This record gives sequence, structure tokens and C-alpha cells, in this order.
Amino acid sequence: MRYGYFDDNRKEYVITDPRTPLPWINYLGSDDFFRLISNTAGGYCFYKDANLLRMTRYRYNSDRPDSNGHYFYIKDGNKIWNPGWQPTQTALAGYSCRHGLGYTIIEGRRNGICAKQEVFVPRGENCEVTRITLSNETYKDKELDLFSYVEFCFWNALEDMSNFQRNYSIGEVEVIGSDIYHKSEFRERRRHYAVFSVNKPVAGFDTDRTSFLGAYNGPSFPEAVIRGESKNSIAHGWAPIGSHHLTCTLKPQESVSYIFVLAYCETGKEDKFEAPGVINKKPAQEVLAKFRTDEQVDQALEELRAHWEKLLSVYHVESDDEVLNRTANIWNQYQCMTTFNMSRSASYYESGLGRGMGFRDSCQDILGFVHMIPDKARERILDIANTQFPDGSAYHQYQPLTKRGNTGLGSGFNDDPLWLIAAVAAYLRETGDYTILDELCDFNNNPETKAPLLEHLKRSFTFTATHLGPHGLPLIGRADWNDCLNLNCFSEEPGESFQITGPSEGPVAESVFIGGMFVKYGREYEEILRHVGREEEADEAEHTVQQMEKTVLDAGWDGEWFVRAYDAAKKPVGSHVCEEGKIYIEPQGMCVMAGIGLESGEAVKALESAQRYLECDYGLVVLNPAYTSYHLELGEITSYPPGYKENAGVFCHNNPWVIIAETMLGHGDRAFDLMKKICPTYLEPISEIHKTEPYVYCQMVSGKDAPVQGEGKNSWLTGTASWGFAMLSQYILGIRPEMDGLCIDPCIPAACKGFTCTRKFRGSEYHITVKNPNGVQKGIASMTVNGNKLDGNVIPVPAAGSVCEVEVVMG
Ligand code: GLC
Ligand code: GLC
Repeated sequence: MRYGYFDDNRKEYVITDPRTPLPWINYLGSDDFFRLISNTAGGYCFYKDANLLRMTRYRYNSDRPDSNGHYFYIKDGNKIWNPGWQPTQTALAGYSCRHGLGYTIIEGRRNGICAKQEVFVPRGENCEVTRITLSNETYKDKELDLFSYVEFCFWNALEDMSNFQRNYSIGEVEVIGSDIYHKSEFRERRRHYAVFSVNKPVAGFDTDRTSFLGAYNGPSFPEAVIRGESKNSIAHGWAPIGSHHLTCTLKPQESVSYIFVLAYCETGKEDKFEAPGVINKKPAQEVLAKFRTDEQVDQALEELRAHWEKLLSVYHVESDDEVLNRTANIWNQYQCMTTFNMSRSASYYESGLGRGMGFRDSCQDILGFVHMIPDKARERILDIANTQFPDGSAYHQYQPLTKRGNTGLGSGFNDDPLWLIAAVAAYLRETGDYTILDELCDFNNNPETKAPLLEHLKRSFTFTATHLGPHGLPLIGRADWNDCLNLNCFSEEPGESFQITGPSEGPVAESVFIGGMFVKYGREYEEILRHVGREEEADEAEHTVQQMEKTVLDAGWDGEWFVRAYDAAKKPVGSHVCEEGKIYIEPQGMCVMAGIGLESGEAVKALESAQRYLECDYGLVVLNPAYTSYHLELGEITSYPPGYKENAGVFCHNNPWVIIAETMLGHGDRAFDLMKKICPTYLEPISEIHKTEPYVYCQMVSGKDAPVQGEGKNSWLTGTASWGFAMLSQYILGIRPEMDGLCIDPCIPAACKGFTCTRKFRGSEYHITVKNPNGVQKGIASMTVNGNKLDGNVIPVPAAGSVCEVEVVMG
């Protein structure tokens, strides 16, 4: 069942039923100011950091997951309603929510009135603009009241939710005309406040929550709206809100618009106040002046549209499959930008209260956005490298505001260092900008220890190469990519961290997965070295990688698939000798991606086993059989009920690894089938089962061992976005940047007749036409560039500004 449809022309998903199985949200903002907005106008906003500078309140773990937002109420006679249905839930005659690229438009109709709520964050501004347009679609005059409502948060979102003995006394506001200022804590150490304003004179206002809502009403029937009159309350302590009351009389077929701006404002240290106790309103007035008229709003919306057109023009494909087109051209890339902006901080599943930027997560995210914003990818890479330890190991997370490693969790996740190589290699392939390798980066943010980025990569490589266990495989440390496989922690008490309880350093548990990673990214490191003429080091690296490849085949091969790991007692994990968890997905994908066993047959076998034991209707589960009891020696993975999360859920992130591996074997049909099982756009028709947004990947789908299968959870902020895009754009469609140029190497279903793709790459534009006259799945019979036959399938980089007409015939 669908709850809406894709409008590809406008690049929107249009929700037509507000009762989606879960809130279906969008992200507004692209620099510093962000708003999460659900299809019923729920959500909140913050400046830069979702925990420390939260502007509006989100109510956690509430019985309705979407119980607070930036709401607008319409009072028509004695009926009150919202354009987005919530929170009054008054029945609407018409409803739609258009989630677009950086904006959301919600439209509700009732009793001859249409109310349109357009919401966006203008480029370069720290504010949210909402334009409410009320239209009288009847042939009678209509008298209407409009009320706005936002609930302010006391900036630090965690304190806001817990420290009530203080919070109930700190709330302060100022009101001047239509401008409501939230200035809690400004009188002491803060130099920022919020302003909420509307561009028309108000009939009244409220700033105190209880005055507006009534002590027992809640936002679904606010007392002031029901009365049709604000109380002009000034909050002293308790819970400050911002609410405007506007009135209008609309003639038949007449419309009126109101522009609301909710802005984050900062002052200097010296000019905080314009009079004792009176805040300096200049920064607020400056931003408000920019959004007073419809023309200004239209102009800002146009700039936002142009911004997205530009970003999405780098990669654009046209095929017969419209679902594929919208995935590749719009939604997958959009989600990659969101993971760039948010990392794993703020979604409807990530609370925005904890978790900094993950070292491995941020490195992998780069694979998905580097083509759109290479400069920001560069900056991100350098930020990450600056947190690396001198021995090559890495903090597992760092804080976005300070850009320093997170000491609470520390280091010891032994896959982390290699992801830095993955990120840098992806950056180099996209941009050809080798100067990044000379950039000096600190170790552990200590400026006295600067070394070129290339040296950082060397330390990543060397760390792994020199931390080997009894089988010669890499030591796993606290965990590798699978955070929940904790082979060196032995936690028996509830509440302890599965990852950092117990002796993480020292024990001998090993990871075949990291072995596979080392072969893959070790080769990429070697390639980088050759490019910068360090042949000797490259030869050494090559030798070390070959050694590891041999070790993986010797000690990491189980007969039918790759073993997952060896635990602290040197027993295999993910082997036929195990009772549960006999086979895991990660080493099958990663080792084959690394090219291990391609010649000698293990690769094919590993993927066949993955298909046989791990596949279900919704993709490949992490492992099989699921663990039915808690294993001290395995850790968190066995803490989840069977079929969920890392314990045999479909953890979408690792499915693209297997799909990429399948394309390496030339299995176009198989790769595509598997992609369709996890790709949200293809799951749109079963939205009632899948539950999360059909336009973005979610982290996990309940697997074949779960009592209820196919339920998605944790949408938006997942590494699946970037791997999904790499899989589709570079391996299935096969338009892949390489160090020496753009490689064309599609692996598609036999029935696919071909496709075209426009790709901007290193300053030139490629118009690529792929034809598949003989119905093959992989392989190129001939290829021309501007009419000239090309040997091989890598197009050498032309002079910047070139246009390359590329004709590819598969066969
Ligand atoms: C989460 C983490 C990621 C980890 C994955 C598997 O998505 O963000 O770092 O690799 O879980 O445990
Ligand atoms: C939990 C989650 C895992 C995530 C980790 C992040 O272990 O199950 O998916 O990666 O937390 O810290």
C-alpha cells in the first residue's frame, strides 16, 4: 500500500494520507541551521549542534512519535484545524505534504478554505521561513483566525529534558509588535537568542505555554485557539513558547499570505544589550528584513532550487526504469547530502543528544557526496585525519563543534583506520587532487605532531599490518564494522557498555572482515603510492597485502564461505562448526570486493552461500542462524532478539557490498534483484510493511527470524545511503571514477537495453550512451569517445571544459 507518490518532475515525494505508518520526515537546511520536519509539520530546529543549540523542543519517546512541531492553527467559526492534520487531527477534505529538496509544502483543505504551509531554510541564512497562504475557495466571505505555535527549547536539549528544578525558573522572553524573542540564559553567558516573527500586525500573542494551551489541554486543543483570542502572556520561567494570533476576512476566491520567520541570532560580547536587560535586536532585524515580502520568499526558494539543480547535475541517468532514475538522480543523492550534514546525530531515531561524528561513518559517507561537494569532502577528510592517533589507530567518534576525538568511547575499533584510506582514495578518484596528500594534519589534534595526510594513510595501513593475531589476521579490538560483535568484552551486568567493558586491549580475537578490508584498501593505498611515485613503498605495501590475502584464504576460509572472526578463545565465529551464527554477511561482501578468491573460486562460492543462507524477501540478513541466547564471548550482537539489528536483521548497509561483489562476478540480474529488495523506492508499494519513508534507505529491516518481518527502522542517517549510491552509480550502472579517468563498466540485467548518463567529472562533461543489443549482463564490445575508438574502458581525463560524447556497446 502507498501513502503517496513520487512527483519526479518536481523532485518531490507527495504524501496524500497524513496517517503514514511512522512520521515521514524531511531535512531543511544545508549549512548551519537545520529543521527536521515531518509530514504533519512535526519536528524541531537547531543551529549547528542538535544537542547544544536546540531551538525548539522535541518530546522524546512520546506515545505519538511526532507529538510536537511548528504548528499553525486555523479557526473557522467554532472549528479549529491544522493544514498538516496534526495536532488537532480535525478531519480534512484534502491533504498533501510535498517533501522536496530542502523544502516541504503542506496543504490542507477544509470547509472551503485551503491552507498552504511552505517551509524552508534559505541558503546562507540561519532561519526557517514559513509562508502560510490562506485561500477562500467559496463564494462567501470568510472570517478566519490564524495562530502560530512553536515551543522553545532551552538550548541544551539534554538539560532541557531533565533539569526541571532549574529550567522552570529560567525562561525569559521579549515581545515587540509581531516579534517574539526567546532569550533564556542570554542575561548570563549566552550570546544567542531566537526570534519568531510574522510580517503582519498581530491581534495578540502568547509566550507562556500554559496560558496558550491551558493547563490540561495540550497542543491538540489549545485554549487560546478555542477561545479565538490570545492572552498576550509574557513567560516568566516555566515553558516559553511563541504564538501569534492573526485575523483576516477573505472575500470569495481571495487569498492572503503570512510570512513567519524563526531565526537564530548571535550578538557580539560587547553589544549584547541595547539597554539594561533589553537584548540587542539588530541581528534579528537584519534577517527579518530579508523575508518580508512574497517576492523575497519566492526569490529565496528559487535560489534553493537552483542550488539543488546544480548539485544533482553532476550525475544524471536516464533509463527505462523510472524507479531507478528517481533513486539515482534524486533521492539517493539527497540522502547522501543529509548524511554529510547530520552524520548520525539528529533524526527521528537518532536523538541528537549523543553520538558525535563516527570516524568510520564519516569516512564512508564521503563515498556518497564527494562528487557533489568535493571541497567539503576535502575539509571533512582533513578534520577526520586530525583526530587520528600517532600509531595510526583512531578515536571511534569526534565532536562536530570542537572537532576533537571523543574520549568517552576512545579508540580500539580496529576497522576505523582503514576507512580513512577508503575516503581519501575516493576523493582522489573523483577529483585527481593529489595536493590533499601533502596537507599537514595533526595527530590527536596536537599541532606539534603535524604530518602530511599521506603519512596518516601510512599509519592506518601500518597499524593494521602490525596488529595481527594468532592466525595472522588483524586483531579486532573492541569491534570492527559490526559494532555489536564484541569479542574482547565480557559484560555480565546490565547497563554496562558492550563495547568498552572489559579488557579490550591485549586479547587475541581476530577479524576476517578487517583482513578483507586490508586487502581492498591496502591495494588502494598501494595505488596512491604508485601515483605519487613512491614505488618502493608501493612494492612493500603490495607484498604485505598479498600476504594478507593468502592468510585470509588459509585461515579465513571455511569451505563454503569466509569465516567472520576468531574469538578471544581462538574459536571461529561464523563457521559451520558454530551452532548459531554459522555464516555472516560482512566477510562475504568485503572479501569478494577485495578480489579475494576471484580466480580460485572461493568468491563465487561465498556469494552462493550468502544467497542460500542469508537471503529473505527483504535482502540479506547479517547472519544465520540467528542467536537465540546471550553469549558472553560475542557481546551485544547476541543481546538483540533474533531477526533484529545486528542479530540477523537485514542491516541494509552491508547489502551493497554483496551487490558490488556480484557485479564483480558479472551477475547483473542477481545484483539488480538484490538491490530491489533493499532499495526503498522499489519498496514503495509495500509501505505499510516497510513503514519508513519510501524515499530514503533505513538502517535495518527486521529479518527472516523476526516475528514480524520486513519492518524498516532508523531511516535517513545510515551508511546505506553512500554505499547504495556507490553500488548503483558505479557498479550496476558502472560509471566509476578511477585514478586515471572515468571508467565505464556496467553490470546490468540482461533484459536492460541500455541507458544514458550525464556525468560531470574533473571539469569536463560526459554524455554517455550505453547500448546492450545482445542482452548481456556485463562486458564491453566497443567504445568510442567523440567518435574515436577507445582501447579499454577508462576514458583518459581530457582538458578541463571538454565535452565527451561516449558511445558504449556492451557485448
Ligand atoms: C551503526 C553504526 C556503524 C556500524 C553499524 C553496524 O550503523 O553507525 O558505525 O558500522 O551500526 O554495527
Ligand atoms: C549499538 C547499535 C549499533 C550502533 C552502535 C553505535 O551498538 O546496535 O548499530 O552501531 O550502537 O554506538
